[in-house]
Amino acid sequence: MRSHYCGGINESHIDQEVTLCGWVHRRRDHGGVIFLDLRDRDGISQVVVDPDTPESFALAEKVRSEFVLKVTGRVRRRPAGTENSNMPTGQVELLGKEVTILNAAATPPFPLDEHVDVGEDVRLRYRFLDLRRPEMLNRLRFRSRVTSYIRNYLDSKGFMDVETPILTRATPEGARDYLVPSRTHEGSFFALPQSPQLFKQLLMVSGVDRYYQIAKCFRDEDLRADRQPEFTQVDVEASFVNEEDLMNLNEGMIRALFKDVMDVELPAFPRMPYAEAMERFGSDKPDLRIPLELQDVGDLVAGVDFKVFAGPANDPKGRVAALRVPKGGELSRKQIDEYTRYVGIYGAKGLAYIKVNNLAKGAEGLQSPIVKFLGDDVAMAVIERTAAEDGDIVFFGADKATVVNEALGALRVRIGHDLNMLTSEWAPLWVVDFPMFEELPDGGLTAIHHPFTAPSCSPEELASNPATALSRAYDMVLNGTELGGGSIRIHSEQMQQEVFRILGIDEEESRAKFGFLLDALKYGCPPHGGLALGLDRLIMLLTGAGSIRDVIAFPKTQSATCLMTQAPGEVEEKQLRELNIRLRRKPAKEADSLATQTEEQ
Ligand code: AMO
Ligand code: AMP
Repeated sequence: MRSHYCGGINESHIDQEVTLCGWVHRRRDHGGVIFLDLRDRDGISQVVVDPDTPESFALAEKVRSEFVLKVTGRVRRRPAGTENSNMPTGQVELLGKEVTILNAAATPPFPLDEHVDVGEDVRLRYRFLDLRRPEMLNRLRFRSRVTSYIRNYLDSKGFMDVETPILTRATPEGARDYLVPSRTHEGSFFALPQSPQLFKQLLMVSGVDRYYQIAKCFRDEDLRADRQPEFTQVDVEASFVNEEDLMNLNEGMIRALFKDVMDVELPAFPRMPYAEAMERFGSDKPDLRIPLELQDVGDLVAGVDFKVFAGPANDPKGRVAALRVPKGGELSRKQIDEYTRYVGIYGAKGLAYIKVNNLAKGAEGLQSPIVKFLGDDVAMAVIERTAAEDGDIVFFGADKATVVNEALGALRVRIGHDLNMLTSEWAPLWVVDFPMFEELPDGGLTAIHHPFTAPSCSPEELASNPATALSRAYDMVLNGTELGGGSIRIHSEQMQQEVFRILGIDEEESRAKFGFLLDALKYGCPPHGGLALGLDRLIMLLTGAGSIRDVIAFPKTQSATCLMTQAPGEVEEKQLRELNIRLRRKPAKEADSLATQTEEQ
């Protein structure tokens, strides 16, 4: 139908006849001439229709925003003074000779202008219109460019793209499963994959040697700005490799990608043990752009009468940590109250602080609600440890180590942003030496990555000290976001059984759930390992989008619904009967269940 895209015409087409198709972005009536801005995925061209072509002029008078047109005409230079150097097509315009209305359009529920702030609920409901906006369309185009770059990169390294099933058994990655009832096997359910983890390992047993897949994963978990129930991984697995091989491969790919699509030269990724990341940043995905660190002061306050500090300082699971903020002395009471409320979200019961007004005056020069509880000497020792100077503020967290790490870790990031402290645009790293397990509230152990991750010790050592054993896992972190995670896997049946046993999965249960894996490990499984990158998160970081939803064509809301298709929806009684399913309760009214919650956490 068309000869060019709207965004594709320029001075080289002057005097040529072209045909454009697209949507009316704007229509202006300039007494006697009509200007139509015609838009398609490549950009906007100005079309001029004048009364010399009366039929077309009459049609042009009728068109409204978002009408779909085909226009044929001659490209000409815009009259002097009317050029628009902000637009690639801004030097030229199309004198429209023949205008065809291909389709009319109702008035859109929101203007498709980049600068209009529209509620996300409305945008998601009319996503097909929202995606017409150049900003959104450009993100989809960018995403397509990234996936094709990644495919080419992995293809060139000998990786084979293999598809794995969507209807499968539960694959434990720590979230709840989405279940699909089977009609042919009454009372049985498929689970949608949380990741292709087990299948990619089985492909290694098969000798595929190097596998990748841009794979859809499904996890029924609490959603946040960087989580979706249905998301995409760049999933990679290779045989006869070690951690170095896999980290180098993936780091190489990300660095090459940044160079290609962003023209950014990322630094080599530093490696940081998990324990160091927790101690210095309170997080296993530290944002290294922020030059603030946590410091332990438990030893200094263990003897004070102030129970809030002495309690956690003497508890092996407790932590008392300080966070020094240079020049933070200027923070107002109101800001400190807001930060106190903020750390409360992470379970902190308060946020003690010391403002350093004048060190020369000793404890006299400190301003704080807690110096009187700590005593002058301890307060000064703490300040000395943090190396705080006049004009600084030091915040404190005292609680279970998990609470202190989360609370001060989050506060560190928040203050870093609030006070514009970012030292670089990009800060990637690998976090390594994760523990194998973490303790559950009931005292049991759960896998930090997944139960197929190899420990860095023998099965016997693992059995005797499971709580302190380290794993051969690694996470790729960028700007405080966990971009990907992977590990060397267990390739011996004995080791796999040992890990199941530690996780409280007995032999019978492990046979029932993972018999196929245990069998595969028996028949010559090569040493292997891999990694999965969160593609949506990668695109979010690359495009600077504020939410993962902005880089997914048809995302779900914060409450895991699709506002456009109104999924999930009720099904007919007949379908339920075929599946042998009876609902325990009548479903809530659809309106209720689709209550929109797109608010950020
Ligand atoms: P993991 O569970 O760490 O590992 O997931 C890998 C990466 O996937 C992304 N991700 C998500 N992105 C959006 N929404 C979600 N709900 C979501 N959950 C995870 C993250 C994360 O780093 N099978 C292993 C990988 C392996 O061991 O090879 C796995 O799935 O960016
Ligand atoms: P209180 O004795 O409860 O008034 O607390 C004195 C100071 O310690 C206040 O500034 C509180 O915000 C702070 N605080 C209380 N509990 C904690 C805690 N668990 N961690 C850090 N600071 C706390």
